[in-house]
Amino acid sequence: MSVQIVEPRAAEPAPTPQFPLDQWYVAGFSWELKDKPIGRTFLNKPIVLFRTLEGDFCALENRCCHRALPLSDGTVEEGGIRCGYHGLLFDGTGRCIDIPGQTKIPGKAIVPAYHIREQDQILWIWFGSSSDSEPSFEPPQYDVHSSGRYLFDGDVYHYDAPWQLVHDNLMDLSHLGYVHLRTIGGNAKVHMNAEMKVEAGDEWVRVVRHMPGSTPPPTYTAAFPFKGEVDRWQEIEFHVNHLRIWSGAADAGTCDLNDPNRGGFHMKGFHGVTPETETTCHYFWSVATNPVRDPEETKQKVIEQSKMTFDEDKVVIESQYKNMLRFGDRPMIDIHVDVGPNRARKIVEKLKAHS
Ligand code: FES
Ligand SMILES: [Fe+2]
Repeated sequence: MSVQIVEPRAAEPAPTPQFPLDQWYVAGFSWELKDKPIGRTFLNKPIVLFRTLEGDFCALENRCCHRALPLSDGTVEEGGIRCGYHGLLFDGTGRCIDIPGQTKIPGKAIVPAYHIREQDQILWIWFGSSSDSEPSFEPPQYDVHSSGRYLFDGDVYHYDAPWQLVHDNLMDLSHLGYVHLRTIGGNAKVHMNAEMKVEAGDEWVRVVRHMPGSTPPPTYTAAFPFKGEVDRWQEIEFHVNHLRIWSGAADAGTCDLNDPNRGGFHMKGFHGVTPETETTCHYFWSVATNPVRDPEETKQKVIEQSKMTFDEDKVVIESQYKNMLRFGDRPMIDIHVDVGPNRARKIVEKLKAHS
């Protein structure tokens, strides 16, 4: 009788996660959460977000452990969130603290809770590489929202496209002259020929573009009394969970485009891009500005124009993704404007591999 010797199998390497883990991701803005819960899926995990009556922000798995109704269909009340089916009440740690008509609460009556933090009116949620992972650092600060120097507003968009297509779009502002002619665009050639500098660190990329002697685009002239031609700048900073884009302009020849305290018209954009699934994402944006006259009215104008701009991006990106699906894995070429987006993609790959 022959004996079959079975070689011990080498341990299978753990599969690379779909998204970088052990990271804070944007879950929303503080002003969105008033007295009602919000259900959102992040990184394939359905989550309910709510604010307790005491004002604390909470994030739980969006599934009641009794009969699986989404907790986001329930109500926020004293003590936590009450399921909208049979009334179980869960506190912010996910523990059931009340079962109507029953005094004994089973030990298993608990739903998973996630770490959530509010920082400068942005809500950040932690997704760790294991279910008990504790945050190893704090979420980023964004003092544009809290310094009092800017007026701002924002919104939340849902994208039927993978999150990295939104990164690509934000990292490469050469598309302004083609996609955003009605708002923040301007001459396409000036954009394509802008002087561009790309710098990168381990977990960030920075793209700086200067366009001296440009014609100010419609959003700029609506918001600021420019005298004629302007010197424009765009500074884009990529981080895995958000981008910061500082763009603006000053009357030509009146400021040093490298001076961090330069004057002129400013638009400071916060862009939180959080994967919902592999093929969809959430886009949380705010735009801040420094009006010199009619502050509220000017801010409203800038926000309206920003909405129009981001609506235009959404149309392009979702159409691009539909076509990518239609054509499958066909190769794409790179051009000079792709240096920044490609660097950002490398960082995401590296962080995924280290998760
Ligand atoms: S499904 Fe939530 S209480 Fe029954
Ligand atoms: Fe755009």
